[in-house]
Amino acid sequence: MSSIVIVGAQWGDEGKGKITNGLASNANMVVRFQGGSNAGHTVDVNGEPVVFHLLPSGISVQGVLCVIGPGVVVDPLGLVEEIDGVRSRGIEVGENFLIDVGAHMVMPYHRAVEAAEEESRGGSAIGTTRKGIGPAYSDRYSREGLPIGMLASFGEFEERLRAIAARKNEILTRLHGAEPLDIDAIVDDMRRAADRLVPHLADTPDLVREAVASGSNVIFEGAQGTLLDISFGTYPYVTSSHTSAAGVAPGTGVPPSMVGEVLGVAKAYITRVGAGPFPTELPDGEGETIRDRGQEYGATTGRPRRCGWLDIVALRYAIGVSGMDRLIITKLDVLDAFETIPICVRYRIDGVETDRFPRSAVELSRAEPVYEEMPGWQADTTAARRHDDLPPEAMAYLRRIEELTGVPVAAASVGAAAHAVVQFAEIL
Ligand code: IMP
Repeated sequence: MSSIVIVGAQWGDEGKGKITNGLASNANMVVRFQGGSNAGHTVDVNGEPVVFHLLPSGISVQGVLCVIGPGVVVDPLGLVEEIDGVRSRGIEVGENFLIDVGAHMVMPYHRAVEAAEEESRGGSAIGTTRKGIGPAYSDRYSREGLPIGMLASFGEFEERLRAIAARKNEILTRLHGAEPLDIDAIVDDMRRAADRLVPHLADTPDLVREAVASGSNVIFEGAQGTLLDISFGTYPYVTSSHTSAAGVAPGTGVPPSMVGEVLGVAKAYITRVGAGPFPTELPDGEGETIRDRGQEYGATTGRPRRCGWLDIVALRYAIGVSGMDRLIITKLDVLDAFETIPICVRYRIDGVETDRFPRSAVELSRAEPVYEEMPGWQADTTAARRHDDLPPEAMAYLRRIEELTGVPVAAASVGAAAHAVVQFAEIL
């Protein structure tokens, strides 16, 4: 069996898309297991950056079957647009792409309700991507969701949609004082989306299980990061899905016993978009340098990302929650400019030093970082492809991450280009 899980080890945007895409040439299948179009996976396709929101990152690699699993929430209109966009760049989206019938749909009323809720939260807004992800998952749990398989029986789907949309209009108008949505227009849009998406619908859990059992190389591609996990992240400043490796089982139908190695992807520093505690945040100065050098702007929303030094306390916690066997460190080249590079090795909370990551966002917001300083390398690493191309200080930085986490680093990425990777060990 050769299946691997690629998950974010921080608050998302770690560069999982590039890593998944790079490994996809050795894979038979890439399966997304959670999240929705809140994700933005930037992949280098023939030298051009292409952002995938819902399509698995292996879609541009010929011969790879890409699957959206039942744990994902799919915006049908957004997906059709995304398919058209990638096709216009010469990428095939046909029999190589399946959507599980059990994935739930994100509807226009989910986005509208979310926008109204975020507005009403005022200063305590979560800073969501406003893609309707939270409300779509909420509806799934409150048994008011719409599995995408329903598009194949449009009559029944339309009846259910009209009933639910009417209730959502009540919420929008009566509770939030917002405009009601045009339900006929939603039905028409969904009919168009159904024409395009029904050919891709399939019952996928057996297919994926059989692929893993028969020894095919299967990549489970995570979105967001472990610190945004609905159960183990910095609640309530989290997304609404299981972003940790544990999400593979409910998100694909492949049991935990069949899931192979877990690869955690972490940046050489750390970023966060949206609200929530962030102990190593650098609000200006060095944080701005990191943002400029790393082009740290949201791939989905364009928002500037909050930037800070690598946080080992948070990383160790994420490694534990997701059971990461190895790490891939991305964007090492962004640190090329710094004379010294602090690493947060402990927190100080209410005057007491600890290496424990608080489960409570309130406690985490009181955590001050305790740093250890590493010498920088102040040299261009973007052309490095072998470990002896890297300056000794950059190798020392990676080795220190290994020592502090107890987890080996399998590769480091040193630029946006697909081949800008220094691989230390075989991965797939
Ligand atoms: P939602 O996923 O849109 O509900 O947003 C909830 C939180 O997760 C917000 O802080 C978002 O900024 C964050 N988030 C969602 N998707 C991503 C992502 O792909 N990268 C980084 N942060 C994300």
